[in-house]
Amino acid sequence: MTTEPFSLQRLEPNLGSQIAADLVVVEEKLMQAATTSDPFISEVASHLAQAGGKRLRPMLCLISGQLGHPTAELLDAAVVVEITHLATLYHDDVMDEAVKRRGADSVNSRWNNTIAILTGDFLFAKASQILANLGPDAVLLQAETFERLVSGQIHETVGPDNDVNQIHHYLQVLSDKTGSLIATSARFGGMFSGLPHDALQALSAYGEALGVAFQIADDILDISSESSESGKTPGTDLREGILTLPMMFVLNTNKPEDKELIALLGKPLTDDETQQAIMLLRKHDAIQEARAEAEKYIAIAKQQVVKLREIALIQSEGFGPQSPSALEALDLIANSVLDRRV
Ligand code: IPE
Ligand code: IPE
Ligand code: MG
Ligand code: MG
Repeated sequence: MTTEPFSLQRLEPNLGSQIAADLVVVEEKLMQAATTSDPFISEVASHLAQAGGKRLRPMLCLISGQLGHPTAELLDAAVVVEITHLATLYHDDVMDEAVKRRGADSVNSRWNNTIAILTGDFLFAKASQILANLGPDAVLLQAETFERLVSGQIHETVGPDNDVNQIHHYLQVLSDKTGSLIATSARFGGMFSGLPHDALQALSAYGEALGVAFQIADDILDISSESSESGKTPGTDLREGILTLPMMFVLNTNKPEDKELIALLGKPLTDDETQQAIMLLRKHDAIQEARAEAEKYIAIAKQQVVKLREIALIQSEGFGPQSPSALEALDLIANSVLDRRV
């Protein structure tokens, strides 16, 4: 289930086995949430959870939870962030007309758009039911997170106003659509293990920056990966005419030798055009430039780990016995974001 860069085997053994055990319970709860008395809804709602996925968000929640003294609610918080993410994938694949997800048929392609939208909503409802037991602070945070996530998706769809810098707009979209939920995943961990407020702030800032780097890596993978590895169809962004960071770098430098590529960017493409654009972009320096931009966000995430270490030194009573290993793990995850192939 967990693939290379985010493998639990890279964590300190005690922490790794704790997180592995917790993830087994999270998985059971996830499947339970996706199952109802209606066999059809159960089949559709469990389709993507069964197909695979890295479980990065619950993993971050559980690891952050090991910074403090985990409470009984921590596992449910981890379930909530994964179900929320899962539901966004149902909707995202409709919007992107994606046919593959997690190595399986997307829900919209296996069934249809209506089923995918409604089952996404069904999963949001399930996440809300679990959240209701986690208290008003968690409910509010989740609602604010979700507002940001959908705002990001809307802003991506609408594109920047004429007076707004395209790259600035893109990075804000990434913070909102991806950074928001990853930030909340880390913060929930701190909230449900009794960490002080400044540690929660640092966890949010860590997740936010990590999320932006993670999405830049995802946008690079859309160009550079093979479907057999990523479980998604490469070139989905290109085909839909969605501009991502490497493409923006090509457009901004506007070199004569990029004429053919530039003509293919930012508009819906045929399959042949998509393949041509992938081929041209794969060998372009813009990929390295986008990686360099992601590195900046990784550095911000790592600074927050340093800050958490300082907070743990000053206010050690809020922190638990696993906190050094958990901090190490957060640092390792930040280091691994650009190595992801899935
Ligand atoms: C996919 O997220 C959507 C993005 C925010 C890039 P993941 O890459 O975490 O997808 P799964 O959960 O592993 O399938
Ligand atoms: C979608 O970004 C992120 C969210 C689901 C909020 P993408 O459209 O790039 O994600 P993938 O590539 O389909 O996973
Ligand atoms: Mg998509
Ligand atoms: Mg993508």
